[in-house]
Amino acid sequence: MLVFGATGDLALRKLLPALYQLHREQRLPADLRILGLARSPLSREAFRQRAERQCRAQLARRAFDDEQWRSFAARLDYFAMDVAQSAEFGRLANYLGRDSARGRVYYLATAPQLFAPIAAHLAVAGLAGRETRIVLEKPIGHSLASALSISEAIGRVFDESQVFRIDHYLGKETVQNLMALRFANALFEPVWRAGHIDHVQISVLETLGVEERGSYYDRAGAMRDMLQNHLLQLLCLVAMEAPVRFDGDAIRNEKVKVLQALKPLTGMDVRDKTVRGQYSQGVVGGQSVPAYYFERNVDSDSDMETFVAVQAEIDNWRWAGVPFYLRTGKRLQRKCSEIVIQFKPVPHSLFPGAPDQANRLLIRLQPEERISLQLMAKTPGKGMTLEPVELDLNLATAFSRQRRWDAYERLLLDVLENDPTLFMRRDEVDAAWRWVDPILEGWRTCYQKPRPYPAGSSGPEQAQSLLELAGRRWLDS
Ligand code: BG6
Repeated sequence: MLVFGATGDLALRKLLPALYQLHREQRLPADLRILGLARSPLSREAFRQRAERQCRAQLARRAFDDEQWRSFAARLDYFAMDVAQSAEFGRLANYLGRDSARGRVYYLATAPQLFAPIAAHLAVAGLAGRETRIVLEKPIGHSLASALSISEAIGRVFDESQVFRIDHYLGKETVQNLMALRFANALFEPVWRAGHIDHVQISVLETLGVEERGSYYDRAGAMRDMLQNHLLQLLCLVAMEAPVRFDGDAIRNEKVKVLQALKPLTGMDVRDKTVRGQYSQGVVGGQSVPAYYFERNVDSDSDMETFVAVQAEIDNWRWAGVPFYLRTGKRLQRKCSEIVIQFKPVPHSLFPGAPDQANRLLIRLQPEERISLQLMAKTPGKGMTLEPVELDLNLATAFSRQRRWDAYERLLLDVLENDPTLFMRRDEVDAAWRWVDPILEGWRTCYQKPRPYPAGSSGPEQAQSLLELAGRRWLDS
């Protein structure tokens, strides 16, 4: 496995710890070797040390074992090169030597603008044979046009079956559980549709800021970094029809139909149905934190959004007229990813004065994995006073003896096992961009600047108004 961008945040904080865990549990092929590639002139030993420091920092103390680390480190190697230079790939081919003929995975943990040149240089150096696979990290491109041109460039070198596009949310157990919940329980299917559902909320809220990734984030923003991929993938899993089989193409066929059915947001809709925000100075978890434009490597008059909320609609028979409210942001009050399915109230109320007599299904993806169904119940005592109660399932308790896998562990293993089920197909990525692009364009042409929100708050007020205008509210529990 060749990891391009090996000294970057993603490789050091996510990929190498995940590979180490898989090694510890003897899930990696015995002969797997991992070659880190980046520009810094590091020795093999220095790279191993850097990787060790990060793995120790990322993994719980009990998940780190010195002896296991030594045997894992023996798999690690490093090769300094400038991936922008075609000639360097000849040097790489020489370094790989006889191994060049064997099946190989290229993991591009780099900026998306390097995807196309790396693929082309691999081909020229004779390193892109049929047995190889290439893994691309989101966001793929910066806009629809750039995504299409990346896909074409990759497609000229690799067949679609060799391409693995990662959206790490699909590797989360909890996200896969959405499919189990919907398609292994007959209970929900009859009510999983417009006639019974008032609206859906999908929130991915973070307390972290942009950390060391200011220069990347200031060109991406919340829309490209999170909504175009993670949130739309969650929306697909909530809204898709049952696939005919549990396999890569059957699932992806259904997801792409959802993306293609998203009602385009253009013109006034962009103003009325989207909210951009940017955090200002505030307090998160008791710590005072600076405004976004004071973060390292961020432009001091940046108008990049760190928060986005959108009201989406899916134009198909199942979902016509049901709003899907999506929101994500950095430096918010709490870290939480959840999906709320708000059912419609009973058609006729027998209990006057009872509050909001409607059921609600909450699927919490993180920090804890929980599914809870809000039901109405009678309060003990005289009279029919009702109040909501929760039917609550904590999945961590239900499966307390099993270790929770990190998303990257699962996805890396799937790449090695050549299983594409949890990866995005090219048409999915294109369809997601096709919907997102007019929103980005609308923001640009109407100069829709992000609304400030204090770090540690729940986002800009306008995100509340988006729902309040329709008599709804974000269901922060
Ligand atoms: C990444 C984004 O894809 O997902 C980050 O680039 C974000 O900005 C992260 O912080 C969130 O992932 P998780 O697994 O912590 O919810």
